[in-house]
Amino acid sequence: MKAVVIRKFGSPEGLEVVDLPAPVPAPGQVLIATEAIGVGGVDVVIRRRTLTHAFQEGHLLGSEVAGSVTAVGEGVDASWTGRRVWAFTGLSGGYAEQAVAAVEDILPLPDDLTCTDAVTLGGSGVAAHFALDRAGIGRGTTLLIRGAAGSIGITAVQLAARSGADAVAVTTSSAERGARLRALGATHVLDRAGEGGGPGTPLGFDAVIDIVAGPRLPHFLDKLNPNGRYVAVGIVGGQPPVDFGMRLVENFRRSLSFVTLSSDTVPGPDRQAVRSSQFSDAARGSLRTVVHEVLPLDQAVAAHRKMDAGEVFGRIALTP
Ligand SMILES: NC(=O)c1ccc[n+]([C@@H]2O[C@H](COP(=O)([O-])OP(=O)(O)OC[C@H]3O[C@@H](n4cnc5c(N)ncnc54)[C@H](OP(=O)(O)O)[C@@H]3O)[C@@H](O)[C@H]2O)c1
Repeated sequence: MKAVVIRKFGSPEGLEVVDLPAPVPAPGQVLIATEAIGVGGVDVVIRRRTLTHAFQEGHLLGSEVAGSVTAVGEGVDASWTGRRVWAFTGLSGGYAEQAVAAVEDILPLPDDLTCTDAVTLGGSGVAAHFALDRAGIGRGTTLLIRGAAGSIGITAVQLAARSGADAVAVTTSSAERGARLRALGATHVLDRAGEGGGPGTPLGFDAVIDIVAGPRLPHFLDKLNPNGRYVAVGIVGGQPPVDFGMRLVENFRRSLSFVTLSSDTVPGPDRQAVRSSQFSDAARGSLRTVVHEVLPLDQAVAAHRKMDAGEVFGRIALTP
């Protein structure tokens, strides 16, 4: 089968299209003929080695796919065969014509949800939901979402607006992207440095959801109100300064909280319940998925170049 591996970590050019033997589903797994493959910010940070050094050259990228189940491993109900599903493949295995996933990590797709929409929402929607949960957002609260133009942020903006929060501010890199985020429910648009936003922009926020991290993280900690909660969800801007925690200590009398949130720590059934409800909402049109572009699998390098260039609003999906 055709697949895309990391031949050399760093730039997009290190990705290579290769032929690999199709995987065989182990006990408890299913085999999926992929129809859409999500290109997430997580793939980019693995390729850049920002997230982890655990992977070796030859690593098969990709963490979420959608398609049809073509075979099941031992112990898996054979009735899965032929069903359209979304699947989490872990931190590898997705950029391929065929992928395996544990049966607990697959979810049937509603008839009206495309595979492309499913890989845009499947992983990121759950991260957005539980980040907002940790942030304690609802009526009477103010929120800033940093790095809102990716698929996590786009869902978080919509869910936060729906929660009745008083302010759903975002950071983004252009007025055009800001206008698109306003159309999804953002109330104030700040630049990447956290400046701007116009009249009425809160001076402080009850919570910050941060998908970016990087050197500016301490500056955004300063934007929290007393008792404010900072929820770190991603690191697309790189690691924060090693001493960023000093900012919390220096502000001891303001009772700030800093948490990291990985949806991996959310119990599987809770993740699936949220995902299932979000898939239904997306199929009905009450939750929007934003697909930036659909590209063939063998153009994974182009997809990653677009991610690095900051061109992507929402998510790119690959098709085999
Ligand atoms: N916590 C979890 O459970 C979980 C789950 C999945 C993924 N993740 C993590 O979430 C991140 C990916 O999320 P995503 O796919 O939504 O993000 P993304 O699409 O990669 O990026 C989101 C936005 O951040 C902005 N941005 C990019 N680089 C930046 C920089 N250097 N400085 C400031 N802003 C920058 C860009 O918007 P503008 O150009 O408009 O500013 C971009 O559209 C990864 O770090 C991944 O590891 C976490």
